[in-house]
Amino acid sequence: MTLGNLCCMMTAMVRPVSRVLRLGCVLAFCFQVLVPCGLPGAWGLDNGLAMTPTMGWLHWERFMCNVNCQEEPDSCISEKLFQQIAEIMASDGWKDVGYEYICIDDCWMAPERDSKGRLQADPKRFPGGIRHLADYVHSKGLKLGIYADVGNKTCAGFPGSFGYYDIDAQTFADWGVDLLKFDGCYCDSIQHLAEGYKQMSLALNRTGRSIVYSCEWPLYMRPIFKPNYTEIREYCNHWRNFPDIYDSWESIKNTLDWTSSNQKIIVPVAGPGGWNDPDMLVIGNFGLSRDQQITQMALWAIMAAPLLMSNDLRSISPEAKALLQDKDVIAINQDRLGKQGYQLRKEDNFEIWERPLLNLAWAVAIVNLKEIGGPRSYTITLTSLGRGLACNPNCLITELLPEKRKLGFYEWTSSLKTQINPTGTVLLRLERTSSAQFSYSVVSDSL
Ligand code: GLA
Repeated sequence: MTLGNLCCMMTAMVRPVSRVLRLGCVLAFCFQVLVPCGLPGAWGLDNGLAMTPTMGWLHWERFMCNVNCQEEPDSCISEKLFQQIAEIMASDGWKDVGYEYICIDDCWMAPERDSKGRLQADPKRFPGGIRHLADYVHSKGLKLGIYADVGNKTCAGFPGSFGYYDIDAQTFADWGVDLLKFDGCYCDSIQHLAEGYKQMSLALNRTGRSIVYSCEWPLYMRPIFKPNYTEIREYCNHWRNFPDIYDSWESIKNTLDWTSSNQKIIVPVAGPGGWNDPDMLVIGNFGLSRDQQITQMALWAIMAAPLLMSNDLRSISPEAKALLQDKDVIAINQDRLGKQGYQLRKEDNFEIWERPLLNLAWAVAIVNLKEIGGPRSYTITLTSLGRGLACNPNCLITELLPEKRKLGFYEWTSSLKTQINPTGTVLLRLERTSSAQFSYSVVSDSL
């Protein structure tokens, strides 16, 4: 075990310890030994949560604000929908691979607060109330997420939390909620926006319940103001930077383009406890081809993005399910080094992305952006990967997507030829090997 690993393990193990101890020991140790630890320059929100990107399901992209349970009982925003999805998440392998949070988005509320000023669920669509739903979700070994808004109204026009931060945080804690997505609509000034996001973070903390805090703060600051990510990271476990994802290739491309164009600013701030959130996985819906779904899965792993699916798990295809449950790809997303990947280069309609992983391993994604023709080949010089170190002196390369297969041992000075479908991605994992391992493999291959 390297010092770097030990340091990162310490970071991962410190959840229940007191705030002072946690900061004191870990930071002192990590900075003293000066090893790459995955810790960004500033320490993040100190609630011990989201040490790896959050995984779960969020209703918005697929089910939006459908409140018509009379005509569409199976797809309206109701406790029945969340109970059915929770049931499947627990029984169909989703929980086993890490999808843990089942999250309610906008449109769960009644149009008015109760007589004590508390938010309440729509009584027709959530007859048992949120406490009851949380109990059900917890009984399945899962966690419940909920949605509210920093301003006067939610984006869909339900009651906002402005002026009610403490009451709402306490209500969510009393109900047993485990994650809050806090939207930024209908906020009347930039000061109220920033203060509101901070105050809600502190209010959640004061409840004493562990509640992941998912923000949209930087998104609502743009384009007029420049987000202060050091500050945002101190208050939020993840944060949306870019407008809502849609079920289309155009939307995936825009999200990736925005991320790579802003990577100098946003990549260094991501790390255990605080992540950039490029929005939901739309795999398993209607708008993406098989190759485009592979691209979303691979790139969300490279970007260390929260993996919040928005799809209908009751009717998902076996192919989409296998992709979303791919343990090797999830392992890259959840890598404990906690460093977000970045775009290394872009040429001739190819994009090369890479992400450093624990134990000096690297993930590499090659995307073919050309939307005409058939599969195209791209040859990678291995010296160009991982700041020259990914394959130094040798490495074992495994292709994870589109298919899992061992490609074998490679020397530092060699190159690798790949074939990529239009709008598809090849995702690779590179593990450094010693010269001894390499010679052994070459000899045993030739026997
Ligand atoms: C905003 C958010 C979305 C979703 C909707 C709900 O657009 O960015 O993710 O929560 O509001 O109204």
